[in-house]
Amino acid sequence: MKKILIIGVSGLLGNKVYNLAKNDYQVFGTYNTHKPSIENVYQLDVTKRADVFKLIGNIKPDFVIDTHALHNVDYCELHPEEAWLVNVEGTKNVAEACKTFGCKYVFISTDYVFDGKKATPYTEKDKPNPLNYYAKTKLIAEEAIKILTTDYIIARTAVLFGVGGLGKEPFALWLVKKLKSGEEVKAVIDQYNNPTLVDNLAEMLLTLCEKDKVGLFHITGKTNLNRYEFSIKIAETFGLNKELIRPITTPELNQVAPRPRKVALDVSKVERATKLKALTIDEALNIFKQQVSL
Ligand SMILES: NC(=O)c1ccc[n+]([C@@H]2O[C@H](COP(=O)([O-])OP(=O)(O)OC[C@H]3O[C@@H](n4cnc5c(N)ncnc54)[C@H](OP(=O)(O)O)[C@@H]3O)[C@@H](O)[C@H]2O)c1
Repeated sequence: MKKILIIGVSGLLGNKVYNLAKNDYQVFGTYNTHKPSIENVYQLDVTKRADVFKLIGNIKPDFVIDTHALHNVDYCELHPEEAWLVNVEGTKNVAEACKTFGCKYVFISTDYVFDGKKATPYTEKDKPNPLNYYAKTKLIAEEAIKILTTDYIIARTAVLFGVGGLGKEPFALWLVKKLKSGEEVKAVIDQYNNPTLVDNLAEMLLTLCEKDKVGLFHITGKTNLNRYEFSIKIAETFGLNKELIRPITTPELNQVAPRPRKVALDVSKVERATKLKALTIDEALNIFKQQVSL
């Protein structure tokens, strides 16, 4: 049985990869601050280089799926040194350890590496131009990986939603709870992305590993929509009151870090490589609804 190490098994994506992989692989996981109650789980801070090498050297996994990040975009803007340490130095530590012990390295990047000025979906060949510090650290990490190892997958994704993980609640779940309790929420009408169900992303990542693919892949949902439209779709899927969702514009939010206005990623490369389909927002929300127990 092949071995997988999931860095960040306590997170939203890491937890989903764990659940999908546990019957077919020998799965190991790490957490940083939220200890999950599963077997073969270890505490690891990826900024501690010696610890990273020790763990990967002891397990010697076939694949390392690294979901760690400091991804609060505004926090990264205000704490650039910490963001650099976790997102760049931490990634370099894992990539180098993977190279040393002969593991395939899977890294998760972001659609925010683009500035959103292109009218059509971005392909893997388009030139990035990150607008905020979080995206800059992710792009620099991508470049470092390409230098440090050859057997890697870099997956750029966007607005993850789903069920699982012990950290901060993802937006979609937060919204469902707010609407259920009759609270008004605000959602921006001028930030467009392709929300991505973690189940779809996790399945594609495992398939890319299994097929021994290498390189950069865009992996998101199929539908490009703004946060307000996304929120309305969520309300409709769950039969909740959409009148509680108030459309606002980005300037009204006063966000610290700039965001691209409209980023859509072209997912045809990963669809060809995996023979799997990126889900439309309606398909993804219907799966999500079945998983939510409130
Ligand atoms: N969420 C999104 O909308 C989105 C969009 C685009 C890209 N991404 C990327 O997708 C990946 C997964 O996102 P997610 O939403 O699943 O994140 P998440 O739920 O916040 O999980 C992040 C995981 O990383 C771990 N971690 C954080 N700092 C660490 C450190 N210094 N050392 C080791 N582990 C550390 C956390 O551990 P503890 O919780 O135990 O501390 C947690 O398990 C990230 O790389 C993120 O940048 C996310």
